[in-house]
Amino acid sequence: MSKEKVILTGDRPTGCLHIGHYVGSLRRRVELQNAGDYRQMFVFIADAQALTDNMDNPEKVRQNVVEVALDYLACGLDPSRVTLFIQSQIPELCELSFYYMDLVTVSRLQRNPTVKTEIQMRGFESSIPVGFFTYPVSQAADITAFRATTVPAGEDQKPMIEQATEIVRRFNYIYGETLVEPAILLPDNAACLRLPGTDGKAKMSKSLGNCIYLSESADEVQKKVMSMYTDPTHIHVQDPGHIEGNTVFTYLDAFCRPEHFERYLPDYPNLDELKAHYRRGGLGDMKVKRFLNAILQEELEPIRQRRREFQKDIPAVYDMLRRGCEEARNVAASTLDDVRRAMKINYFDDAELIAEQARRFAER
Ligand code: TRP
Repeated sequence: MSKEKVILTGDRPTGCLHIGHYVGSLRRRVELQNAGDYRQMFVFIADAQALTDNMDNPEKVRQNVVEVALDYLACGLDPSRVTLFIQSQIPELCELSFYYMDLVTVSRLQRNPTVKTEIQMRGFESSIPVGFFTYPVSQAADITAFRATTVPAGEDQKPMIEQATEIVRRFNYIYGETLVEPAILLPDNAACLRLPGTDGKAKMSKSLGNCIYLSESADEVQKKVMSMYTDPTHIHVQDPGHIEGNTVFTYLDAFCRPEHFERYLPDYPNLDELKAHYRRGGLGDMKVKRFLNAILQEELEPIRQRRREFQKDIPAVYDMLRRGCEEARNVAASTLDDVRRAMKINYFDDAELIAEQARRFAER
C-alpha cells in the first residue's frame, strides 16, 4: 500500500445530504477511509462556498452545518481517521484564494461549464456576485491548501478540478514547484455519476422536492419509492417496459448487489434477468419498487440508527468539528508558509533577505 494519497472532498451545507450525495461520493469516502490506503483524509463542510449563493440566508447555512456533520458521522466517517472541518474556520483558504485570483482570467472563469449552468439556474445572469463567480478559485484553494492528490466527487465537480489543476500548474511554473496537482475520483458506475430525482428529472435537488434524504424515516422513504417515476408507457403488467430513463432501474443500478436477490427476490438470479423480464412484459412496477425499497431500507437503516445516536450529543459533534478545524488549520498554515516563500512574500522569516537588502543599500 502506498501511503502517498491525500484525499479531500466537501459538501455545501444547503440542506441535508441525500442518496444522490451518497452514491456520488459519500459511500466511496467511507470505503476509502476503511481501506486506509492514504496518508491523510479531509472531509469538510463548505459553508463559505454555500454563502456565495446564500449570502442573504446565513441562518440556513448555519443550521445545515450540523445536519451535514451528522450525515457524515451517520454514514460512518470516523473522526479518528478523517479530519472533519468547516471551511470558514480556515482563514488560510481566503489568503490562498486571493493569490490564485492573479493566476486566473475572467474569461477562463466564464467558460467553466458548472458555473455557467449554476448562474442560469439561480437567475444570476444580469448581476453575478463576484464571490459566486470566483468560487472555483476558492475551491482550488480548498484542494491545494491540504495538498490533496485525490478528490472523490461527482461529475459536476470535474470542471472545478480541472480549473484547480491549471492553477497549480501556473503557480508551479511561475513560482517554482510548490503545489500538488489533484485528480478527481469519479464513481465507477454511470447510475452513481448523476442519480436522477424520484420524479425522473435530471438531478436530485432540494428545490424540486425529488430527493430521498439519508435522514428520512423508513415510512417516508417507502412512500417516495412507491410513487417514483418509472415508464409512462408501461401501463398494464403485460406491457413491455423500458429500462432507459426508468428511475427505479437507475436506482437499482446504483444500489443493487447480487446478494439482494437471494434475500428479497429469489425468483431472479440477477439484475440483468429482472430487466429482461421487464422489457418482455409481465413484470409489474410494484414488484420492482418493493424490491428497491427493501434494498434502500437495508442500506439506510444503519445510517439512520447511527444518526439518532450522534444526535443525542450535539455538543460532542461541535467539539469534534472544532478539533478537526485545528488539525486542518495546521496543515493549511504549513502550505501557506511554502506559498509565501515561493511568492517571495515571506519578509520576516528570511534572514538572508534582510542581510541581502542591507548589503544592497550599503553599496549605494
Ligand atoms: N463544490 C462542491 C459541491 O458543491 C463543494 C466543495 C467545495 C468541494 N470545495 C470543494 C468539493 C473541494 C471537493 C473539493 O458539492
